[in-house]
Amino acid sequence: MDVKTDVLIIGSGIAALQAALLLEEHFQIQIVTKSSIYMSSSYRAQGGIAAVISEEDHIQHHMADTLKAGEYHHEKRHVKTLIKDGTEIMQNYLKNGLPVDRQVDGKPALGLEGAHSHHRILHAGGDRTGQIFIDYLLHKLSPKTKINCYEMAYELLRNTDGDCVGVLTKGEKGTKRYLAHHVILATGGAGALYSSTSNFPTNTGDGIALAFRAGAAISDMEFMQFHPSLLWCKNEAKGLVSEAVRGAGGIFVNAQHQPIMTGLHAQLDLAPRHITALALFTKRAAGEETFIDIANIQDFEAKFPTITQLCHDNHVHLQDGLIPVAPGSHFLMGGVIADDKGRTTIPNLYAVGEVACTGVHGANRLASNSLLEGITFGQKMAQFIIQKGCHQKNFLLENPHCTDKMPSLFSKPQLQQHMMQFLGIVRNIDDLQHFVQQLPSLQSLLHVNLNGLELAELELFMMHVVATLMAHAAITRTETRGAHIRTDKPEMEAQWASRWIIFSQGQMKV
Ligand code: SIN
Repeated sequence: MDVKTDVLIIGSGIAALQAALLLEEHFQIQIVTKSSIYMSSSYRAQGGIAAVISEEDHIQHHMADTLKAGEYHHEKRHVKTLIKDGTEIMQNYLKNGLPVDRQVDGKPALGLEGAHSHHRILHAGGDRTGQIFIDYLLHKLSPKTKINCYEMAYELLRNTDGDCVGVLTKGEKGTKRYLAHHVILATGGAGALYSSTSNFPTNTGDGIALAFRAGAAISDMEFMQFHPSLLWCKNEAKGLVSEAVRGAGGIFVNAQHQPIMTGLHAQLDLAPRHITALALFTKRAAGEETFIDIANIQDFEAKFPTITQLCHDNHVHLQDGLIPVAPGSHFLMGGVIADDKGRTTIPNLYAVGEVACTGVHGANRLASNSLLEGITFGQKMAQFIIQKGCHQKNFLLENPHCTDKMPSLFSKPQLQQHMMQFLGIVRNIDDLQHFVQQLPSLQSLLHVNLNGLELAELELFMMHVVATLMAHAAITRTETRGAHIRTDKPEMEAQWASRWIIFSQGQMKV
């Protein structure tokens, strides 16, 4: 079945909805999403949205915190756009009634999270920020925008001029071909490549795999951020325990109630995430259990209703004052190279939100900068598309991929375990090389004909594409920087700060 539209948006998180809201006033929009409209990392976001709202804060402070947390591996002009334009957009949302939590004097309540020098985290419903923001946007979206749930995009379509003009999707009702003047990847991240993650199982990096196979440039795949505090019960991660809990006074401790972060970083429990995640990983590797001590937090249940429910569902008793936690994959800093208008290296293909790599997060994202990224670049991209209009005339498609046979793949649990073990919080060259030898070659993933695969097979294939990109990038970056921690190369090397490991047209270059 063919569907023609002006703009096709793949994904349904905050970046997708922010763009759709602006675009629907001008064009026909179709949203395609792999699962339910609510299964996005944006919807799950607890902590909030960082923005310069307090009179004591300044754009320069927020920029400095972002650059420092990300170890100065940024596209600085995009960081400025993120923080300056993002703050303005948030101020407008506040004026227009976004229901954030407020103090008794009516001013927005501003939380604190890791590596922030000022209180600047806007939140809603305590720790239900993402849910409330997404519901707010969905409520504003008109029925003109068509939302197609439970359809997985598996192949981008390019015309004979090389422009992106659509996508193939597979859903319960079969295969569809969407043709569009503009195609937007807003597919989120790839946390579900790991066995311990804060992400939904659907976050398998599909947008990156689609873009790679279509020939778009991808970068920074060695930088997967691990969140230090996922609820840990029965040897499994059960969901996020927001950094806002530590912002409110929670402290990482071991089973003897001894603080873990003492002496490790000046910002202690609110150190950048790669520091706290490594500290907990190290303790746990030595056989210790790790917790957040919440005894000092007043009104925990009211401040953190989502976390309270999560603990309740997993039989963790908050009155004991300890929440068992362990690190897990959380946010991919790398992705499809995009500029501040979402443009990728393929004409008419855009990437926005976590799937994109605009260079705003460097080697380790500053907490709560990701919802800000979604609204800021979602808006800038939409404005660009509105200005450009819908003039694509050539819908004659180039010949599809269909030569090589399927390489051998791991099962999903095997791949997730290997990712945790070989490409996890710490890496070393021997493990990485051992792992990469068992993964398919990059070239072998480019031309496989995916038509006819079942949904689970398509997803597993996408996961292998992303894992392979990550493994090659991690081998190539011979230093430690931010979330990329190489035990065999423990130093940060000045010459690597501004070097990008890029995959383009199926080849890697540095
Ligand atoms: C959290 O609430 O700890 C997550 C916030 C984020 O990842 O930005």
